[in-house]
Amino acid sequence: MGICSSKINEKTDPLNSQLSQIKESEFQYIDGRRFHNLKNVAYPLPNDDDEIDRLHFRHFLNRNIWKSNFSAPINHILTNPETKILDVGCGAASWSFDMATTYPLVNIIGIDISRQQATHIKPKNFTFFKANVLEGIPFNDNTFDYIFQRNLMRAYTEQDWPHVVNELVRILKPGGYLELMERSMLYNMGPATKRLCDAEIAAMNLAGTDPFACQKLEKYVQNQGFSFFINLYRL
Ligand SMILES: C[S@@+](CC[C@H](N)C(=O)[O-])C[C@H]1O[C@@H](n2cnc3c(N)ncnc32)[C@H](O)[C@@H]1O
Repeated sequence: MGICSSKINEKTDPLNSQLSQIKESEFQYIDGRRFHNLKNVAYPLPNDDDEIDRLHFRHFLNRNIWKSNFSAPINHILTNPETKILDVGCGAASWSFDMATTYPLVNIIGIDISRQQATHIKPKNFTFFKANVLEGIPFNDNTFDYIFQRNLMRAYTEQDWPHVVNELVRILKPGGYLELMERSMLYNMGPATKRLCDAEIAAMNLAGTDPFACQKLEKYVQNQGFSFFINLYRL
């Protein structure tokens, strides 16, 4: 809602009309919410202030549940100024900003189809690039020591997943770590939660994305010749 009203102000203010035109093509507005405007991207969620709040909230919830921001054994690279870390589909960059602040020596890069991070609190060791993962990731082979991707199950179809993992492995250095974090659908739920869950599965099937991607991550990384560690948290 906040973003929507700022768009109206920009439109009525001629000084901001150029900015407004750029935003017009970058975003679309549906029922007062702001979304990306890319035709070939299935991702259905908004990217406005309310969504940014939700992503921050979920980040800190995750960190509290896991008592950490990562599961991979990467402590030894987190004090090395040569270390390059990639956050794929970084969104509001909650994870990236938290990591960049905690480990100020490493370089953290975030990519996303939409820029959603607050620029005024951006840590110096964080850089953002706008990129659509489904069009290939714009980095050379063997660039990153650690790649983190979380909550992208609404972004990829079942056919996309192997290509995405292949692309992530391409830009990961030999001996590097890839951490993929997706949630499983719920089991043993009550009737109201089941209705909600069934509706989400139906919406994902309609969009062509895979509600059960989480269970297939092991297969995707093993097909790339990786050793696989699994960490599960049962709510
Ligand atoms: C649910 S949010 C997760 C954000 C972040 N990873 C986190 O856990 O807080 C998913 C993000 O993926 C981005 N996204 C969706 N499809 C994408 C694509 N094809 N390439 C890059 N980013 C994408 C969206 O714009 C959104 O910011």
